[in-house]
Amino acid sequence: MTDRDEEVLNRAPLFEALDDAAAKSLRASVAEVRLSRGQTLFNEGEVGDRLYVILEGKVKLTRAAPDGRENLLSVLGPSEMFGELSFFDPRPRTASAVAVTECRLAGLGHDDLRPFLTNHPEVAVHLLRALAQRLRRTNDVMADLVFTDVPGRVAKQLLDLAERFGQPTEAGLHVHHDLTQEELAQLVGASRETVNKALADFAGRGWLRIEARAVVILDIERLRKRSR
Ligand code: CMP
Repeated sequence: MTDRDEEVLNRAPLFEALDDAAAKSLRASVAEVRLSRGQTLFNEGEVGDRLYVILEGKVKLTRAAPDGRENLLSVLGPSEMFGELSFFDPRPRTASAVAVTECRLAGLGHDDLRPFLTNHPEVAVHLLRALAQRLRRTNDVMADLVFTDVPGRVAKQLLDLAERFGQPTEAGLHVHHDLTQEELAQLVGASRETVNKALADFAGRGWLRIEARAVVILDIERLRKRSR
Protein backbone atom coordinates (compact mmCIF):
# COMPACT_ATOMS: atom_id res chain seq x y z
CA MET A 1 0.00 0.00 0.00
CA THR A 2 1.45 3.36 -1.07
CA ASP A 3 1.53 6.55 1.03
CA ARG A 4 -1.22 7.92 -1.20
CA ASP A 5 -3.37 4.84 -0.54
CA GLU A 6 -2.88 5.39 3.19
CA GLU A 7 -3.98 9.02 2.83
CA VAL A 8 -7.12 7.97 0.93
CA LEU A 9 -7.86 5.28 3.51
CA ASN A 10 -7.34 7.67 6.44
CA ARG A 11 -10.12 9.92 5.11
CA ALA A 12 -12.63 7.02 5.21
CA PRO A 13 -15.10 6.92 8.15
CA LEU A 14 -13.50 3.72 9.33
CA PHE A 15 -10.05 5.23 9.78
CA GLU A 16 -10.55 8.95 10.39
CA ALA A 17 -10.98 8.57 14.16
CA LEU A 18 -7.88 6.44 14.63
CA ASP A 19 -4.40 7.42 15.75
CA ASP A 20 -1.43 6.20 13.71
CA ALA A 21 -0.85 3.03 15.73
CA ALA A 22 -4.50 1.93 15.63
CA ALA A 23 -4.77 2.77 11.91
CA LYS A 24 -1.67 0.68 11.25
CA SER A 25 -3.08 -2.30 13.12
CA LEU A 26 -6.40 -2.10 11.22
CA ARG A 27 -4.55 -1.72 7.90
CA ALA A 28 -2.84 -5.04 8.62
CA SER A 29 -6.22 -6.78 8.11
CA VAL A 30 -6.90 -5.02 4.81
CA ALA A 31 -6.59 -6.91 1.52
CA GLU A 32 -6.40 -5.05 -1.77
CA VAL A 33 -8.91 -5.95 -4.51
CA ARG A 34 -8.57 -4.89 -8.15
CA LEU A 35 -11.49 -4.67 -10.55
CA SER A 36 -11.62 -3.94 -14.25
CA ARG A 37 -14.25 -1.62 -15.69
CA GLY A 38 -17.69 -3.29 -15.69
CA GLN A 39 -16.61 -6.08 -13.34
CA THR A 40 -19.08 -7.10 -10.62
CA LEU A 41 -17.66 -7.29 -7.09
CA PHE A 42 -20.79 -8.78 -5.56
CA ASN A 43 -24.48 -9.17 -6.34
CA GLU A 44 -27.58 -8.11 -4.44
CA GLY A 45 -28.83 -11.07 -2.39
CA GLU A 46 -25.43 -12.73 -1.90
CA VAL A 47 -24.00 -13.41 1.54
CA GLY A 48 -21.53 -10.64 2.39
CA ASP A 49 -18.56 -10.88 4.73
CA ARG A 50 -16.44 -7.82 3.78
CA LEU A 51 -16.73 -4.10 3.56
CA TYR A 52 -14.71 -1.97 1.18
CA VAL A 53 -13.11 1.45 0.96
CA ILE A 54 -12.35 2.73 -2.54
CA LEU A 55 -8.66 3.57 -3.03
CA GLU A 56 -8.90 4.46 -6.70
CA GLY A 57 -11.73 4.50 -9.27
CA LYS A 58 -15.52 4.53 -9.02
CA VAL A 59 -18.05 1.88 -8.01
CA LYS A 60 -21.80 1.92 -8.66
CA LEU A 61 -24.35 0.35 -6.32
CA THR A 62 -27.40 -0.94 -8.14
CA ARG A 63 -30.63 -2.80 -7.55
CA ALA A 64 -32.54 -4.66 -10.23
CA ALA A 65 -36.34 -4.75 -10.55
CA PRO A 66 -37.98 -8.11 -11.38
CA ASP A 67 -38.49 -6.90 -14.99
CA GLY A 68 -34.76 -6.28 -15.38
CA ARG A 69 -34.76 -2.49 -15.06
CA GLU A 70 -32.01 -1.11 -12.86
CA ASN A 71 -31.97 1.55 -10.19
CA LEU A 72 -28.60 3.12 -9.50
CA LEU A 73 -28.48 3.94 -5.78
CA SER A 74 -25.17 5.72 -5.78
CA VAL A 75 -21.78 6.11 -7.42
CA LEU A 76 -18.90 6.15 -4.97
CA GLY A 77 -15.31 7.33 -5.34
CA PRO A 78 -12.04 7.36 -3.34
CA SER A 79 -12.31 7.25 0.49
CA GLU A 80 -15.97 6.23 0.31
CA MET A 81 -17.11 3.02 1.94
CA PHE A 82 -19.68 0.36 1.04
CA GLY A 83 -20.64 -3.17 2.07
CA GLU A 84 -21.22 -2.18 5.69
CA LEU A 85 -24.99 -2.83 5.85
CA SER A 86 -24.55 -6.60 5.93
CA PHE A 87 -22.00 -6.05 8.71
CA PHE A 88 -24.41 -4.18 11.00
CA ASP A 89 -27.37 -6.31 9.94
CA PRO A 90 -26.01 -9.75 8.97
CA ARG A 91 -28.31 -10.48 6.07
CA PRO A 92 -27.77 -10.66 2.28
CA ARG A 93 -26.24 -7.76 0.31
CA THR A 94 -28.80 -5.01 -0.27
CA ALA A 95 -27.34 -3.98 -3.65
CA SER A 96 -24.87 -5.11 -6.31
CA ALA A 97 -21.47 -3.42 -6.56
CA VAL A 98 -20.02 -2.96 -10.05
CA ALA A 99 -16.85 -1.12 -11.11
CA VAL A 100 -17.61 1.91 -13.30
CA THR A 101 -13.89 2.41 -14.00
CA GLU A 102 -10.83 0.35 -13.27
CA CYS A 103 -10.70 0.19 -9.47
CA ARG A 104 -8.54 -0.61 -6.51
CA LEU A 105 -10.34 -1.28 -3.23
CA ALA A 106 -9.31 -1.99 0.35
CA GLY A 107 -11.38 -4.92 1.60
CA LEU A 108 -11.85 -5.62 5.30
CA GLY A 109 -13.48 -8.79 6.63
CA HIS A 110 -16.48 -8.24 8.90
CA ASP A 111 -14.93 -10.75 11.33
CA ASP A 112 -11.74 -8.67 11.54
CA LEU A 113 -13.70 -5.47 12.15
CA ARG A 114 -15.92 -6.79 14.97
CA PRO A 115 -13.21 -7.21 17.68
CA PHE A 116 -11.60 -3.97 16.53
CA LEU A 117 -14.80 -2.02 17.20
CA THR A 118 -14.98 -3.40 20.75
CA ASN A 119 -11.57 -1.88 21.47
CA HIS A 120 -12.17 1.36 19.50
CA PRO A 121 -15.77 2.47 20.15
CA GLU A 122 -14.98 5.89 18.60
CA VAL A 123 -14.81 4.16 15.20
CA ALA A 124 -18.36 2.89 15.70
CA VAL A 125 -19.52 6.50 16.18
CA HIS A 126 -17.92 7.48 12.85
CA LEU A 127 -19.50 4.52 11.12
CA LEU A 128 -22.88 5.49 12.55
CA ARG A 129 -22.41 9.01 11.25
CA ALA A 130 -21.65 7.67 7.76
CA LEU A 131 -24.77 5.51 7.99
CA ALA A 132 -26.88 8.49 9.14
CA GLN A 133 -25.57 10.58 6.20
CA ARG A 134 -26.57 7.80 3.83
CA LEU A 135 -30.08 7.67 5.32
CA ARG A 136 -30.37 11.46 5.06
CA ARG A 137 -29.38 11.34 1.40
CA THR A 138 -31.78 8.45 0.73
CA ASN A 139 -34.63 10.45 2.31
CA ASP A 140 -33.78 13.42 0.06
CA VAL A 141 -33.74 11.18 -3.02
CA MET A 142 -37.12 9.68 -2.05
CA ALA A 143 -38.68 13.10 -1.50
CA ASP A 144 -37.32 14.29 -4.86
CA LEU A 145 -38.85 11.27 -6.62
CA VAL A 146 -42.23 12.39 -5.28
CA PHE A 147 -41.96 16.19 -5.35
CA THR A 148 -39.37 17.19 -7.98
CA ASP A 149 -39.63 17.00 -11.78
CA VAL A 150 -37.03 15.18 -13.89
CA PRO A 151 -34.98 18.29 -14.87
CA GLY A 152 -34.80 19.25 -11.18
CA ARG A 153 -33.57 15.76 -10.28
CA VAL A 154 -31.01 15.81 -13.10
CA ALA A 155 -29.70 19.16 -11.82
CA LYS A 156 -29.51 17.78 -8.29
CA GLN A 157 -27.64 14.61 -9.28
CA LEU A 158 -25.18 16.62 -11.36
CA LEU A 159 -24.48 18.88 -8.37
CA ASP A 160 -23.99 15.84 -6.13
CA LEU A 161 -21.56 14.29 -8.65
CA ALA A 162 -19.83 17.68 -9.00
CA GLU A 163 -19.30 17.91 -5.26
CA ARG A 164 -17.50 14.59 -5.21
CA PHE A 165 -15.83 14.33 -8.61
CA GLY A 166 -15.70 17.94 -9.89
CA GLN A 167 -12.37 19.45 -10.95
CA PRO A 168 -12.22 23.23 -11.43
CA THR A 169 -10.82 24.13 -14.86
CA GLU A 170 -10.63 27.38 -16.81
CA ALA A 171 -13.64 26.30 -18.88
CA GLY A 172 -15.77 25.49 -15.81
CA LEU A 173 -16.30 22.71 -13.29
CA HIS A 174 -15.31 19.51 -15.07
CA VAL A 175 -17.31 16.56 -13.71
CA HIS A 176 -15.98 13.29 -15.06
CA HIS A 177 -18.70 11.01 -13.70
CA ASP A 178 -17.78 8.05 -15.95
CA LEU A 179 -21.46 7.13 -16.37
CA THR A 180 -23.16 6.26 -19.63
CA GLN A 181 -26.40 8.10 -20.50
CA GLU A 182 -28.30 4.98 -19.44
CA GLU A 183 -26.57 4.90 -16.04
CA LEU A 184 -27.19 8.60 -15.49
CA ALA A 185 -30.88 7.99 -16.20
CA GLN A 186 -30.88 5.09 -13.70
CA LEU A 187 -29.38 7.40 -11.09
CA VAL A 188 -32.07 10.03 -11.70
CA GLY A 189 -34.83 7.39 -11.80
CA ALA A 190 -36.26 8.41 -15.18
CA SER A 191 -36.06 7.28 -18.82
CA ARG A 192 -32.96 7.97 -20.87
CA GLU A 193 -35.00 10.10 -23.27
CA THR A 194 -36.34 12.41 -20.54
CA VAL A 195 -32.95 12.76 -18.89
CA ASN A 196 -31.27 13.51 -22.24
CA LYS A 197 -33.91 16.11 -22.99
CA ALA A 198 -33.23 17.84 -19.67
CA LEU A 199 -29.46 17.76 -20.30
CA ALA A 200 -29.88 19.14 -23.81
CA ASP A 201 -32.10 21.90 -22.42
CA PHE A 202 -29.46 22.83 -19.79
CA ALA A 203 -26.78 22.80 -22.50
CA GLY A 204 -28.96 25.00 -24.74
CA ARG A 205 -29.26 27.54 -21.93
CA GLY A 206 -25.49 27.59 -21.53
CA TRP A 207 -25.51 26.10 -18.01
CA LEU A 208 -23.30 23.15 -18.98
CA ARG A 209 -21.53 21.39 -21.80
CA ILE A 210 -22.04 17.66 -22.39
CA GLU A 211 -18.98 15.48 -22.99
CA ALA A 212 -18.50 11.70 -23.16
CA ARG A 213 -19.13 10.38 -19.62
CA ALA A 214 -18.67 13.90 -18.29
CA VAL A 215 -20.22 17.35 -18.12
CA VAL A 216 -18.60 20.76 -17.73
CA ILE A 217 -20.73 22.95 -15.48
CA LEU A 218 -20.60 26.53 -16.74
CA ASP A 219 -23.25 28.17 -14.54
CA ILE A 220 -23.50 26.39 -11.21
CA GLU A 221 -25.84 28.99 -9.68
CA ARG A 222 -28.53 28.49 -12.34
CA LEU A 223 -28.17 24.73 -11.96
CA ARG A 224 -28.56 25.10 -8.19
CA LYS A 225 -31.69 27.17 -8.61
CA ARG A 226 -33.16 24.58 -10.98
CA SER A 227 -32.45 21.80 -8.45
CA ARG A 228 -34.62 23.41 -5.74
P1 CMP B 1 -24.31 -4.20 1.78
O1 CMP B 1 -25.78 -4.42 1.90
O2 CMP B 1 -23.40 -5.03 2.59
O3 CMP B 1 -23.92 -4.33 0.23
C1 CMP B 1 -24.44 -3.37 -0.67
C2 CMP B 1 -24.00 -2.01 -0.20
O4 CMP B 1 -24.52 -0.92 -0.94
C3 CMP B 1 -24.56 -1.75 1.20
O5 CMP B 1 -23.98 -2.64 2.11
C4 CMP B 1 -24.24 -0.28 1.34
O6 CMP B 1 -22.87 -0.09 1.66
C5 CMP B 1 -24.50 0.21 -0.08
N1 CMP B 1 -25.82 0.86 -0.16
C6 CMP B 1 -27.03 0.28 -0.01
N2 CMP B 1 -28.02 1.18 -0.15
C7 CMP B 1 -27.43 2.36 -0.41
C8 CMP B 1 -27.92 3.69 -0.66
N3 CMP B 1 -29.22 3.97 -0.69
N4 CMP B 1 -26.99 4.66 -0.87
C9 CMP B 1 -25.69 4.39 -0.86
N5 CMP B 1 -25.18 3.17 -0.64
C10 CMP B 1 -26.02 2.17 -0.42
